[in-house]
Amino acid sequence: MENNLIIVLLILCTLHFSGFEANALSYDYTASIECLENPDKPLYGGGIVLNPELNVGLEGWHAFGGAKMKHIELAGNKFVATHGRNQPSDSISQKLYLQNEMLYSFSAWIQVSEGNAPVAAVFKTATGFKHAGAVVAESKCWSMLKGGFTSDASGPAELYFESKNTSVEIWVDSISLQPFTQEEWTSHQDQGIKKVRKANVRIQVVDKQGNPLPNATISIVQKQSGFPVGCAINKNILTNTAYQNWFTSRFRFTTFEDEMKWYSTEGSPGHEDYLSADALLRFAKEHNIAVRGHNVVWDDPKYQPGWLYSLSPTALSKAVAKRINSIMSRYKGQLISWDVVNENLHFSFFERKLGMQASATFYKLAQATDGTVPLFLNDYNTIEDSRDGASTPAKYLQKLREIQAFPGNRNVRMGIGLEAHFNTPNLPYMRASIDTLAATGLPIWLTELDVQNSPNQAKYLDQVLKEAHSHPKVDGIVMWAAWKPQGCYRMCLTDNNFKNLPTGNVVDNLLHQWSSKALAGSTDSDGFFEESLFHGEYEVKITHPSSLAHSFVIVSTNASQQSPVIFQFSV
Ligand SMILES: *[C@@H]1O[C@H](CO)[C@@H](O)[C@H](O)[C@H]1NC(C)=O
Ligand SMILES: *[C@@H]1O[C@H](CO)[C@@H](O)[C@H](O)[C@H]1NC(C)=O
Ligand SMILES: *[C@@H]1O[C@H](CO)[C@@H](O)[C@H](O)[C@H]1NC(C)=O
Repeated sequence: MENNLIIVLLILCTLHFSGFEANALSYDYTASIECLENPDKPLYGGGIVLNPELNVGLEGWHAFGGAKMKHIELAGNKFVATHGRNQPSDSISQKLYLQNEMLYSFSAWIQVSEGNAPVAAVFKTATGFKHAGAVVAESKCWSMLKGGFTSDASGPAELYFESKNTSVEIWVDSISLQPFTQEEWTSHQDQGIKKVRKANVRIQVVDKQGNPLPNATISIVQKQSGFPVGCAINKNILTNTAYQNWFTSRFRFTTFEDEMKWYSTEGSPGHEDYLSADALLRFAKEHNIAVRGHNVVWDDPKYQPGWLYSLSPTALSKAVAKRINSIMSRYKGQLISWDVVNENLHFSFFERKLGMQASATFYKLAQATDGTVPLFLNDYNTIEDSRDGASTPAKYLQKLREIQAFPGNRNVRMGIGLEAHFNTPNLPYMRASIDTLAATGLPIWLTELDVQNSPNQAKYLDQVLKEAHSHPKVDGIVMWAAWKPQGCYRMCLTDNNFKNLPTGNVVDNLLHQWSSKALAGSTDSDGFFEESLFHGEYEVKITHPSSLAHSFVIVSTNASQQSPVIFQFSV
């Protein structure tokens, strides 16, 4: 039988990424998290802001509030500074004109005269104050603040800086304010998807002698998507077939809403009960669903097992060590990650009782117990709300560094968990905050994504999911919509009969958009067939009309590699 074929499957880099559409200004995803001796050049050449170093006269800048302004030149670098501050907002300002519905990316390099202090950039508009972002600025070096906002009216605005510590001077340089239209913003997302979620797949069919075979029929079916999108579940799913069917036909990633939490597994000291968590994990395994471990401990004083409050520091310390060892060794090797300390940017239950190093010591213990998967910090408002000073990207970085700097923690595999509980999304701030955190090189997941109930809930859900999926540095998304008969936490995807709500339709539409449809075609005169596919696993079937009477199936192929790969199969 002369039916020997060699199939060469090439998975190519998406080289066409550099060919950006000529009229859309591309987005700059870079961010610096180092404090540098000299600030970098402003992004986008400064955009619409007048920059000291580009405008020798330093025109455009004014004293704001009760402060005084001065110009400083250090080693040839000119910048603006403020002194004589008495109120947090006493600083320097520049008047600008904002356009309605534009998405503004903002960045600036900040230094304070002494010590270190959080500094925020604020735009005062006719309709209110837009907080563009914040950084923990240091003295003797420059830190990059990256943020943004969406304008909801056209009109004049005033950019100024704010720091609660009025004893420091605020120095500012390399400022940038770059407007983008909605269309440009979407084109950045399309480019991001092309670059990080898809690959150009090239298949060549050749005969035994290596001669290309034209006219071979190729059909490709996606078996599994390469990008993790999941949703939380809870024990209600164990006894509800409709819930099971709805969930398993959509998701391969999950988090248990409450069942692994300490208050669920150890209601009274020493009486551990993992029945629900075990059953959920069994369910997940049966359906090939990967699970994030959530959470080992939670720093919010409201959510402790009741018996914990009365323990002495020594007894509490012992109890936490036992907890970490108990849950993490029980599920070791069966989860894809752990939220080790939940919400320790906002709360400090354990730090108050055990000292400021408490979280860092928990990561050390966690690493020793199940350090083979990423150990996440998990907190809210880092990408959702620019006004929450407790969990800005800068504060997040501080906490990460604090944990990593603790003796013995240098090799802890940390992960960045962004809960993503949105009200009204601020996409430029969301994107910039992820850019900043991505400069750590650590994995980033959106771990509890939902949108508050409002007439815009479904629309906003669509916006934040698209932004997250297209961001080159987001590694996975889990939504926080575990179903309960009495209602979900903030957002359900279905009604009580598991019929999609508008939010569920948004998710289904996107899951569809983010996967490659089944397709068929034939090889060209050089035996080639080429297609752009989402990362994932595929089944490829190749039939040749003349030399082969039968068809055959190639093992699953893998389009998640970023560099060219060649697969050869002979039959
Ligand atoms: C404000 O900054 C100064 C100079 O670094 C520092 O000495 C002081 O402790 C800071 N004040 C507060 C309230 O942080
Ligand atoms: C390829 O198929 C087309 C249509 O089936 C046919 O007309 C053509 O001759 C074939 N070419 C070769 C090289 O077999
Ligand atoms: C696909 O490739 C990725 C990245 O190289 C790898 O982690 C994954 O295990 C592969 N999957 C399969 C099914 O080969």
